[in-house]
Amino acid sequence: MMRWTILFGILGLSWHVKCEEGLKYDNHSLVRLIPKTEQQLTAVHQLPDAGEMEVLKRSRMVNDSFDILVPEMKKVYMEDFAKEHGMDFHVKEDNYGRSFAPVQRSGRRRSNQRLNIFGYNSFDTINAFLEQTAAAHPGLAQVQPLKRSSQGRQLKLMKISTNPGANNPIIFVDAGIHAREWAAPAMAVYLIHRLTSDPAAREEELNGVDWYILPNVNPDGYEFTRYSRGNRLWRKTRSRSSARSDCFGVDGNRNYGFKWGVSGVSRDPCNQETYAGPEPFSEPETRMVRDVMMENAKRLKLYVSLHSYGNYLVYPWGYTGASLPDDWRKLDTLAHKVSKAIVGAGGSPLKVLSAGHWYPAAGGSDDYAYGVVGVPYSYTMELTDGYEFQLPAKMLPKLLPQFYEGFKEFARNIRSEFGTVRSRDAE
Ligand code: ARG
Ligand code: ZN
Repeated sequence: MMRWTILFGILGLSWHVKCEEGLKYDNHSLVRLIPKTEQQLTAVHQLPDAGEMEVLKRSRMVNDSFDILVPEMKKVYMEDFAKEHGMDFHVKEDNYGRSFAPVQRSGRRRSNQRLNIFGYNSFDTINAFLEQTAAAHPGLAQVQPLKRSSQGRQLKLMKISTNPGANNPIIFVDAGIHAREWAAPAMAVYLIHRLTSDPAAREEELNGVDWYILPNVNPDGYEFTRYSRGNRLWRKTRSRSSARSDCFGVDGNRNYGFKWGVSGVSRDPCNQETYAGPEPFSEPETRMVRDVMMENAKRLKLYVSLHSYGNYLVYPWGYTGASLPDDWRKLDTLAHKVSKAIVGAGGSPLKVLSAGHWYPAAGGSDDYAYGVVGVPYSYTMELTDGYEFQLPAKMLPKLLPQFYEGFKEFARNIRSEFGTVRSRDAE
Protein backbone atom coordinates (compact mmCIF):
# COMPACT_ATOMS: atom_id res chain seq x y z
CA MET A 1 0.00 0.00 0.00
CA MET A 2 2.74 2.31 1.03
CA ARG A 3 4.59 1.61 -2.24
CA TRP A 4 1.57 2.52 -4.31
CA THR A 5 1.15 5.74 -2.46
CA ILE A 6 4.71 6.65 -3.21
CA LEU A 7 4.40 5.60 -6.84
CA PHE A 8 1.24 7.62 -7.34
CA GLY A 9 2.84 10.43 -5.46
CA ILE A 10 5.70 10.48 -7.92
CA LEU A 11 3.46 10.11 -10.95
CA GLY A 12 1.22 12.85 -9.67
CA LEU A 13 4.18 15.08 -9.07
CA SER A 14 5.65 14.65 -12.53
CA TRP A 15 2.25 15.15 -14.09
CA HIS A 16 1.90 18.29 -12.06
CA VAL A 17 5.29 19.57 -13.16
CA LYS A 18 4.38 18.98 -16.81
CA CYS A 19 1.20 20.99 -16.50
CA GLU A 20 2.90 23.76 -14.64
CA GLU A 21 5.55 23.93 -17.31
CA GLY A 22 2.83 24.99 -19.71
CA LEU A 23 2.53 28.23 -17.80
CA LYS A 24 6.18 28.75 -17.15
CA TYR A 25 6.24 32.42 -18.03
CA ASP A 26 3.63 33.22 -15.44
CA ASN A 27 6.39 33.66 -12.91
CA HIS A 28 8.87 35.37 -15.18
CA SER A 29 9.64 39.06 -15.24
CA LEU A 30 10.53 41.13 -18.24
CA VAL A 31 13.67 43.01 -17.28
CA ARG A 32 14.96 45.90 -19.29
CA LEU A 33 18.58 47.03 -19.17
CA ILE A 34 19.74 50.20 -20.83
CA PRO A 35 23.46 50.16 -21.61
CA LYS A 36 24.83 53.70 -21.68
CA THR A 37 28.48 53.02 -22.53
CA GLU A 38 30.35 50.69 -24.84
CA GLN A 39 31.55 48.71 -21.81
CA GLN A 40 28.00 48.23 -20.63
CA LEU A 41 27.00 47.18 -24.13
CA THR A 42 29.71 44.53 -24.17
CA ALA A 43 28.60 43.36 -20.74
CA VAL A 44 24.94 42.83 -21.67
CA HIS A 45 25.92 40.81 -24.67
CA GLN A 46 27.74 38.43 -22.38
CA LEU A 47 24.61 37.60 -20.42
CA PRO A 48 23.57 33.98 -20.87
CA ASP A 49 20.55 33.60 -23.10
CA ALA A 50 20.10 29.89 -22.74
CA GLY A 51 18.30 27.94 -20.08
CA GLU A 52 15.94 29.90 -17.94
CA MET A 53 16.96 33.36 -19.08
CA GLU A 54 15.57 34.34 -22.42
CA VAL A 55 16.74 37.34 -24.36
CA LEU A 56 13.85 38.91 -26.24
CA LYS A 57 15.75 41.75 -27.80
CA ARG A 58 19.41 42.68 -27.93
CA SER A 59 20.75 46.21 -27.80
CA ARG A 60 21.91 47.57 -31.09
CA MET A 61 23.86 50.43 -29.58
CA VAL A 62 24.12 52.38 -26.38
CA ASN A 63 20.74 53.60 -25.12
CA ASP A 64 18.95 50.82 -26.99
CA SER A 65 17.25 48.51 -24.52
CA PHE A 66 18.22 44.92 -23.81
CA ASP A 67 15.06 42.97 -22.95
CA ILE A 68 15.35 39.71 -21.10
CA LEU A 69 12.83 37.38 -19.50
CA VAL A 70 13.99 35.94 -16.21
CA PRO A 71 12.37 33.72 -13.60
CA GLU A 72 11.41 35.44 -10.39
CA MET A 73 14.41 33.96 -8.60
CA LYS A 74 16.81 35.48 -11.07
CA LYS A 75 15.63 39.04 -10.64
CA VAL A 76 18.11 39.68 -7.88
CA TYR A 77 20.91 38.30 -10.02
CA MET A 78 19.93 40.71 -12.77
CA GLU A 79 19.74 43.60 -10.40
CA ASP A 80 23.20 42.78 -9.07
CA PHE A 81 24.49 42.48 -12.59
CA ALA A 82 23.08 45.91 -13.44
CA LYS A 83 24.54 47.42 -10.27
CA GLU A 84 27.92 45.88 -10.90
CA HIS A 85 28.04 47.52 -14.31
CA GLY A 86 26.37 50.72 -13.20
CA MET A 87 23.49 50.21 -15.60
CA ASP A 88 19.88 51.32 -15.60
CA PHE A 89 17.65 48.44 -14.63
CA HIS A 90 13.94 48.15 -14.47
CA VAL A 91 11.38 45.46 -14.31
CA LYS A 92 8.97 46.20 -17.10
CA GLU A 93 6.50 43.55 -16.09
CA ASP A 94 6.18 40.82 -13.47
CA ASN A 95 4.24 37.60 -14.10
CA TYR A 96 4.82 38.12 -17.76
CA GLY A 97 2.95 35.04 -18.99
CA ARG A 98 -0.26 36.18 -17.37
CA SER A 99 -0.45 39.03 -19.83
CA PHE A 100 -0.66 36.65 -22.79
CA ALA A 101 -3.82 36.75 -24.77
CA PRO A 102 -6.14 33.88 -24.02
CA VAL A 103 -5.98 30.88 -26.29
CA GLN A 104 -7.16 31.84 -29.73
CA ARG A 105 -8.85 28.63 -30.68
CA SER A 106 -12.51 28.61 -31.25
CA GLY A 107 -14.33 25.37 -30.48
CA ARG A 108 -14.24 23.64 -33.83
CA ARG A 109 -11.19 23.59 -36.05
CA ARG A 110 -12.59 24.69 -39.34
CA SER A 111 -10.52 25.70 -42.29
CA ASN A 112 -13.24 27.91 -43.71
CA GLN A 113 -13.26 30.19 -40.72
CA ARG A 114 -13.52 33.79 -41.86
CA LEU A 115 -10.27 35.63 -42.15
CA ASN A 116 -9.83 38.72 -40.08
CA ILE A 117 -7.56 41.04 -42.03
CA PHE A 118 -6.59 42.85 -38.85
CA GLY A 119 -6.29 39.81 -36.65
CA TYR A 120 -4.12 36.81 -35.90
CA ASN A 121 -5.55 34.04 -38.01
CA SER A 122 -4.95 30.31 -37.82
CA PHE A 123 -2.75 28.70 -40.45
CA ASP A 124 -5.75 26.90 -41.96
CA THR A 125 -7.67 30.14 -42.20
CA ILE A 126 -4.74 31.82 -43.93
CA ASN A 127 -4.42 28.94 -46.41
CA ALA A 128 -8.14 29.08 -47.14
CA PHE A 129 -7.81 32.82 -47.72
CA LEU A 130 -5.09 32.19 -50.30
CA GLU A 131 -7.34 29.78 -52.20
CA GLN A 132 -10.31 32.14 -52.01
CA THR A 133 -8.18 35.03 -53.24
CA ALA A 134 -6.91 33.02 -56.18
CA ALA A 135 -10.44 31.92 -57.04
CA ALA A 136 -11.74 35.48 -56.86
CA HIS A 137 -8.95 36.96 -58.98
CA PRO A 138 -8.04 34.28 -61.51
CA GLY A 139 -6.05 36.58 -63.78
CA LEU A 140 -4.11 38.09 -60.93
CA ALA A 141 -3.46 35.68 -58.09
CA GLN A 142 -2.31 32.11 -58.19
CA VAL A 143 -1.59 29.53 -55.50
CA GLN A 144 1.43 27.30 -55.89
CA PRO A 145 1.32 24.38 -53.48
CA LEU A 146 4.74 23.72 -51.96
CA LYS A 147 5.64 20.79 -49.73
CA ARG A 148 4.70 19.89 -46.20
CA SER A 149 6.07 20.99 -42.85
CA SER A 150 7.52 18.45 -40.39
CA GLN A 151 4.08 17.85 -38.96
CA GLY A 152 2.47 17.63 -42.38
CA ARG A 153 1.01 21.08 -42.93
CA GLN A 154 0.82 22.07 -46.58
CA LEU A 155 2.61 25.32 -47.39
CA LYS A 156 1.26 27.48 -50.16
CA LEU A 157 2.92 30.25 -52.09
CA MET A 158 0.80 33.16 -53.32
CA LYS A 159 1.89 34.58 -56.65
CA ILE A 160 0.45 37.91 -57.66
CA SER A 161 1.07 39.27 -61.12
CA THR A 162 -0.87 41.30 -63.66
CA ASN A 163 1.17 39.68 -66.40
CA PRO A 164 2.84 36.39 -65.43
CA GLY A 165 4.41 35.92 -68.85
CA ALA A 166 6.22 39.24 -68.85
CA ASN A 167 9.39 38.15 -67.10
CA ASN A 168 8.93 40.85 -64.50
CA PRO A 169 11.30 41.22 -61.58
CA ILE A 170 10.00 39.38 -58.54
CA ILE A 171 9.64 40.61 -54.98
CA PHE A 172 9.60 37.63 -52.62
CA VAL A 173 8.26 38.13 -49.10
CA ASP A 174 8.12 35.45 -46.44
CA ALA A 175 6.92 35.58 -42.86
CA GLY A 176 6.63 33.58 -39.71
CA ILE A 177 9.83 31.55 -39.67
CA HIS A 178 9.82 32.44 -35.96
CA ALA A 179 6.62 31.08 -34.51
CA ARG A 180 5.90 33.67 -31.83
CA GLU A 181 6.31 36.69 -34.12
CA TRP A 182 2.65 36.95 -34.98
CA ALA A 183 2.82 40.40 -36.49
CA ALA A 184 4.79 38.98 -39.41
CA PRO A 185 2.19 36.62 -40.93
CA ALA A 186 -0.41 39.31 -40.22
CA MET A 187 1.59 41.72 -42.38
CA ALA A 188 2.01 39.14 -45.14
CA VAL A 189 -1.74 38.52 -45.21
CA TYR A 190 -2.38 42.25 -45.37
CA LEU A 191 0.05 42.58 -48.26
CA ILE A 192 -1.84 39.92 -50.20
CA HIS A 193 -5.12 41.57 -49.37
CA ARG A 194 -4.05 45.02 -50.56
CA LEU A 195 -2.25 43.82 -53.66
CA THR A 196 -5.27 41.87 -54.84
CA SER A 197 -8.17 44.05 -53.71
CA ASP A 198 -6.92 47.61 -54.04
CA PRO A 199 -7.39 48.68 -57.67
CA ALA A 200 -4.63 51.26 -57.29
CA ALA A 201 -2.14 48.45 -56.64
CA ARG A 202 -2.51 47.24 -60.21
CA GLU A 203 -1.27 50.56 -61.54
CA GLU A 204 1.49 50.94 -59.00
CA GLU A 205 2.86 48.12 -56.85
CA LEU A 206 2.02 45.51 -59.48
CA ASN A 207 3.02 47.53 -62.48
CA GLY A 208 5.97 45.72 -63.98
CA VAL A 209 6.68 43.83 -60.74
CA ASP A 210 5.49 40.40 -59.59
CA TRP A 211 4.98 39.52 -55.93
CA TYR A 212 5.50 36.08 -54.41
CA ILE A 213 4.35 35.86 -50.82
CA LEU A 214 4.72 32.97 -48.40
CA PRO A 215 2.69 34.12 -45.40
CA ASN A 216 3.67 31.46 -42.89
CA VAL A 217 6.90 29.54 -43.23
CA ASN A 218 6.66 27.75 -39.87
CA PRO A 219 3.04 26.68 -39.39
CA ASP A 220 3.89 23.93 -36.88
CA GLY A 221 5.53 26.44 -34.58
CA TYR A 222 2.82 29.01 -35.20
CA GLU A 223 -0.03 26.65 -34.32
CA PHE A 224 1.95 25.54 -31.27
CA THR A 225 2.10 29.15 -30.02
CA ARG A 226 -1.64 29.48 -30.55
CA TYR A 227 -2.43 26.27 -28.73
CA SER A 228 -1.79 27.42 -25.20
CA ARG A 229 -0.53 30.41 -23.27
CA GLY A 230 2.44 28.38 -22.08
CA ASN A 231 3.65 27.88 -25.64
CA ARG A 232 3.18 31.47 -26.70
CA LEU A 233 6.90 32.26 -26.85
CA TRP A 234 7.97 29.27 -28.93
CA ARG A 235 10.33 30.37 -31.72
CA LYS A 236 11.65 27.31 -33.53
CA THR A 237 10.16 24.71 -35.86
CA ARG A 238 8.66 21.59 -34.27
CA SER A 239 10.77 18.88 -35.86
CA ARG A 240 11.94 16.00 -33.70
CA SER A 241 15.60 15.99 -32.90
CA SER A 242 17.33 12.72 -33.65
CA ALA A 243 19.99 13.50 -31.08
CA ARG A 244 17.59 14.26 -28.23
CA SER A 245 14.16 12.76 -28.48
CA ASP A 246 12.82 15.03 -25.75
CA CYS A 247 13.82 18.22 -27.54
CA PHE A 248 12.09 19.76 -30.50
CA GLY A 249 12.74 22.24 -33.19
CA VAL A 250 15.36 24.20 -35.03
CA ASP A 251 15.76 27.94 -35.41
CA GLY A 252 14.88 28.24 -39.08
CA ASN A 253 16.79 31.47 -39.34
CA ARG A 254 20.02 29.70 -38.37
CA ASN A 255 19.40 26.77 -40.70
CA TYR A 256 20.22 28.21 -44.13
CA GLY A 257 23.27 26.92 -45.95
CA PHE A 258 25.54 29.91 -46.08
CA LYS A 259 28.30 30.30 -43.48
CA TRP A 260 26.19 27.89 -41.51
CA GLY A 261 26.96 27.82 -37.81
CA VAL A 262 29.83 30.29 -37.78
CA SER A 263 28.24 32.77 -35.35
CA GLY A 264 25.26 33.42 -33.11
CA VAL A 265 24.00 29.84 -32.98
CA SER A 266 23.63 27.06 -30.49
CA ARG A 267 24.67 23.48 -31.25
CA ASP A 268 22.41 22.12 -28.53
CA PRO A 269 19.12 20.65 -29.84
CA CYS A 270 17.55 21.56 -26.51
CA ASN A 271 18.41 25.23 -26.84
CA GLN A 272 15.06 26.94 -27.15
CA GLU A 273 16.26 29.86 -29.23
CA THR A 274 19.07 29.50 -31.73
CA TYR A 275 19.74 25.80 -32.37
CA ALA A 276 21.07 25.75 -35.94
CA GLY A 277 19.94 22.20 -36.66
CA PRO A 278 22.00 19.03 -37.28
CA GLU A 279 23.00 20.29 -40.72
CA PRO A 280 22.15 23.14 -43.10
CA PHE A 281 18.61 22.85 -44.46
CA SER A 282 17.68 20.07 -42.08
CA GLU A 283 14.17 21.57 -41.96
CA PRO A 284 11.58 21.04 -44.70
CA GLU A 285 10.41 24.62 -44.10
CA THR A 286 13.74 26.24 -44.93
CA ARG A 287 14.21 23.89 -47.89
CA MET A 288 10.93 25.13 -49.33
CA VAL A 289 11.99 28.76 -49.08
CA ARG A 290 15.35 27.88 -50.61
CA ASP A 291 13.63 26.11 -53.50
CA VAL A 292 11.34 29.07 -54.21
CA MET A 293 14.41 31.28 -54.32
CA MET A 294 16.40 28.93 -56.52
CA GLU A 295 13.58 28.32 -58.99
CA ASN A 296 13.15 32.05 -59.46
CA ALA A 297 16.73 33.13 -58.93
CA LYS A 298 17.05 35.00 -62.22
CA ARG A 299 14.05 37.25 -61.68
CA LEU A 300 14.26 37.61 -57.93
CA LYS A 301 15.39 41.16 -57.20
CA LEU A 302 14.13 41.77 -53.69
CA TYR A 303 13.70 39.41 -50.76
CA VAL A 304 12.14 40.51 -47.49
CA SER A 305 11.81 38.19 -44.51
CA LEU A 306 9.22 39.47 -42.05
CA HIS A 307 9.86 39.13 -38.33
CA SER A 308 8.99 41.04 -35.17
CA TYR A 309 9.94 43.04 -33.12
CA GLY A 310 12.10 46.16 -32.79
CA ASN A 311 11.46 48.26 -35.91
CA TYR A 312 14.60 47.26 -37.75
CA LEU A 313 15.34 46.88 -41.42
CA VAL A 314 18.61 44.98 -41.66
CA TYR A 315 20.62 43.72 -44.60
CA PRO A 316 23.61 41.38 -45.13
CA TRP A 317 25.90 40.40 -43.80
CA GLY A 318 24.20 38.87 -40.84
CA TYR A 319 26.87 36.28 -40.09
CA THR A 320 29.50 38.87 -39.27
CA GLY A 321 29.82 42.41 -38.06
CA ALA A 322 33.36 42.61 -39.37
CA SER A 323 32.59 43.16 -43.03
CA LEU A 324 29.90 44.47 -45.33
CA PRO A 325 29.00 43.52 -48.90
CA ASP A 326 30.71 45.69 -51.53
CA ASP A 327 27.45 47.33 -52.51
CA TRP A 328 26.09 47.76 -48.99
CA ARG A 329 25.37 51.40 -49.77
CA LYS A 330 22.67 50.41 -52.25
CA LEU A 331 21.07 48.17 -49.62
CA ASP A 332 21.36 50.92 -47.06
CA THR A 333 19.93 53.63 -49.31
CA LEU A 334 16.86 51.64 -50.29
CA ALA A 335 16.23 50.70 -46.66
CA HIS A 336 16.32 54.36 -45.63
CA LYS A 337 13.84 55.23 -48.40
CA VAL A 338 11.50 52.55 -47.14
CA SER A 339 11.78 53.83 -43.59
CA LYS A 340 11.03 57.32 -44.82
CA ALA A 341 7.92 56.15 -46.63
CA ILE A 342 6.67 54.51 -43.44
CA VAL A 343 7.34 57.68 -41.48
CA GLY A 344 5.49 59.61 -44.17
CA ALA A 345 2.45 57.48 -43.40
CA GLY A 346 2.70 58.29 -39.71
CA GLY A 347 4.74 55.25 -38.70
CA SER A 348 7.93 54.98 -36.68
CA PRO A 349 11.30 55.04 -38.42
CA LEU A 350 13.12 51.77 -38.91
CA LYS A 351 16.65 51.31 -37.63
CA VAL A 352 18.72 50.61 -40.73
CA LEU A 353 22.04 48.74 -40.53
CA SER A 354 23.63 45.45 -41.44
CA ALA A 355 22.28 42.53 -39.44
CA GLY A 356 25.79 41.67 -38.28
CA HIS A 357 26.29 45.15 -36.88
CA TRP A 358 23.22 44.55 -34.75
CA TYR A 359 24.42 41.11 -33.63
CA PRO A 360 26.14 38.49 -35.75
CA ALA A 361 24.10 35.35 -36.41
CA ALA A 362 24.81 32.94 -39.25
CA GLY A 363 22.46 30.80 -41.30
CA GLY A 364 19.82 33.46 -41.89
CA SER A 365 17.64 33.53 -44.99
CA ASP A 366 18.71 37.09 -45.81
CA ASP A 367 22.38 36.13 -46.13
CA TYR A 368 21.47 33.05 -48.15
CA ALA A 369 19.35 35.04 -50.61
CA TYR A 370 22.06 37.61 -51.06
CA GLY A 371 25.17 35.45 -50.84
CA VAL A 372 24.09 32.26 -52.61
CA VAL A 373 21.02 33.01 -54.72
CA GLY A 374 22.34 36.39 -55.84
CA VAL A 375 19.27 38.43 -54.94
CA PRO A 376 20.53 42.02 -55.17
CA TYR A 377 18.32 43.41 -52.38
CA SER A 378 17.80 41.24 -49.33
CA TYR A 379 16.41 42.26 -45.94
CA THR A 380 15.04 41.15 -42.63
CA MET A 381 12.31 43.44 -41.37
CA GLU A 382 11.47 43.49 -37.67
CA LEU A 383 7.96 44.88 -37.42
CA THR A 384 6.76 47.06 -34.53
CA ASP A 385 8.21 47.93 -31.17
CA GLY A 386 7.05 48.37 -27.61
CA TYR A 387 4.91 45.26 -27.19
CA GLU A 388 7.48 42.51 -27.65
CA PHE A 389 5.71 39.57 -29.29
CA GLN A 390 2.29 40.47 -27.87
CA LEU A 391 1.29 43.25 -30.20
CA PRO A 392 -2.42 43.77 -29.47
CA ALA A 393 -4.49 42.98 -32.54
CA LYS A 394 -6.29 46.28 -32.13
CA MET A 395 -3.11 48.04 -33.27
CA LEU A 396 -2.97 46.23 -36.59
CA PRO A 397 -5.41 48.55 -38.42
CA LYS A 398 -3.07 51.44 -37.77
CA LEU A 399 0.30 49.71 -38.22
CA LEU A 400 -0.18 47.41 -41.21
CA PRO A 401 -1.17 50.19 -43.65
CA GLN A 402 1.85 52.21 -42.47
CA PHE A 403 4.21 49.35 -43.23
CA TYR A 404 2.43 48.85 -46.53
CA GLU A 405 3.68 52.27 -47.63
CA GLY A 406 7.17 50.90 -47.12
CA PHE A 407 6.41 48.03 -49.46
CA LYS A 408 5.11 50.45 -52.07
CA GLU A 409 8.45 52.20 -51.88
CA PHE A 410 10.25 48.88 -52.32
CA ALA A 411 8.17 48.22 -55.43
CA ARG A 412 8.77 51.66 -56.93
CA ASN A 413 12.50 51.16 -56.64
CA ILE A 414 12.54 47.60 -57.95
CA ARG A 415 10.45 48.70 -60.90
CA SER A 416 12.68 51.64 -61.74
CA GLU A 417 15.88 49.62 -61.45
CA PHE A 418 14.78 46.32 -63.03
CA GLY A 419 11.25 46.76 -64.32
CA THR A 420 9.76 46.35 -67.72
CA VAL A 421 7.01 48.92 -67.56
CA ARG A 422 4.11 47.95 -69.74
CA SER A 423 2.10 50.51 -71.61
CA ARG A 424 -1.53 50.70 -70.76
CA ASP A 425 -2.90 49.87 -74.21
CA ALA A 426 -0.84 46.70 -74.37
CA GLU A 427 -3.08 45.18 -71.73
N1 ARG B 1 16.04 38.68 -35.28
C1 ARG B 1 16.54 37.98 -36.44
C2 ARG B 1 17.11 36.63 -36.01
O1 ARG B 1 17.71 36.54 -34.96
C3 ARG B 1 17.54 38.79 -37.16
C4 ARG B 1 18.17 38.11 -38.32
C5 ARG B 1 19.05 39.03 -39.09
N2 ARG B 1 19.76 38.30 -40.10
C6 ARG B 1 20.86 37.56 -39.87
N3 ARG B 1 21.35 36.87 -40.85
N4 ARG B 1 21.44 37.54 -38.70
O2 ARG B 1 16.94 35.67 -36.69
ZN1 ZN C 1 12.48 36.55 -35.82
